[in-house]
Amino acid sequence: MNIAIAYNLKKEDDSKPPDYFSEFDSQETIDAIDHALKIKGHTVSFVDAERSDLFGYFKKNRIDMVFNIAEGTRGKFREAQLPAILDYLNIPYTGSGTLSLAVALNKTLTKKILRAEKIPTPNSQLFLTGKEKLDPALKFPLIIKPNCEGSAKGISVTNVVHSHKELSERLEVVIKTYEQDALVEEFIEGKELTVGILENGKTTVLPILEIDFSSCSKSGEYFYSWRMKEFQGNDSLGLTPTFHCPARLDKATEKLIQDTALKTHRAIGCYDISRTDIRLNNENIPYVLEINPLPGLNPRTSNFPIMAYAAGLKYEDIIDSVLMNAHKRRRA
Ligand SMILES: Nc1ncnc2c1ncn2[C@@H]1O[C@H](COP(=O)(O)OP(=O)(O)O)[C@@H](O)[C@H]1O
Ligand SMILES: [Mg+2]
Repeated sequence: MNIAIAYNLKKEDDSKPPDYFSEFDSQETIDAIDHALKIKGHTVSFVDAERSDLFGYFKKNRIDMVFNIAEGTRGKFREAQLPAILDYLNIPYTGSGTLSLAVALNKTLTKKILRAEKIPTPNSQLFLTGKEKLDPALKFPLIIKPNCEGSAKGISVTNVVHSHKELSERLEVVIKTYEQDALVEEFIEGKELTVGILENGKTTVLPILEIDFSSCSKSGEYFYSWRMKEFQGNDSLGLTPTFHCPARLDKATEKLIQDTALKTHRAIGCYDISRTDIRLNNENIPYVLEINPLPGLNPRTSNFPIMAYAAGLKYEDIIDSVLMNAHKRRRA
């Protein structure tokens, strides 16, 4: 096939805020996908989704399939923008469609669907101004998150708040900095888990990945904050969490978590690939935080490949599976 990899590339640009590029992909990831596609005999071209003439480019350069990892640059629907252009031009692409990408980028909307499907998700409230009265049903500690970001952008340890005063101070900063609504959730103490799903004719739930932050105490970080994700593996900062894949869980809990991720994948209508983030509390309730229909695919450091390797898959198997499932969907 003639395939275009569409991406947003991390760049050096000091004029941008320090987390501007966090969601974007490294050249290493793009090269790895390129290599995986070429060894299967595909022809590959590259499209930086930041180019201003995306519509014109795809209209002129017809390809068989877009391998989509583009996060998009602007606004609350950014992950859905390139897919919307491709839908309009009737060009097939890998991964979830426009609607699922837009929904998954909106944490509150995702949670409404999860609740309707009886999938546990932390109790929460959406703040538009930061001045709203806190729902008395919500119990401190609470965590504040920008409603439509990823890669833990805007999430630091100071976002875990223990009082009304801390809450309103921090809400003001998050709403102003990220120019969007803020989601406030009960902070779930327990295990950090993430679950990958890969489809290729059949649906495979990969071994669960448990991320243990107990080795990071010197850094002051104790969950998957922006700093933890951005500098993961930096020993001098103490930001080297321990990965357990499969997670240290009994069989029944493992099944419960995998079923929960699969239900989430289906509820949001994802295709081909997804990664669901879960906090398992001390009573074994798997609280779904969010689903990532465009999980990071860095071959060395991203969570999704770690889970695929634990299942005995190679990097090129992930890429081939996503591509073939998208291709079959197109033909069906
Ligand atoms: N309700 C919560 N309870 C405990 N930790 C949370 C909660 N919400 C988020 N976190 C922590 O913050 C991280 C990032 O939050 P998440 O909702 O997954 O957003 P993102 O899209 O930025 O990854 C999670 O992986 C987890 O470590
Ligand atoms: Mg997450």
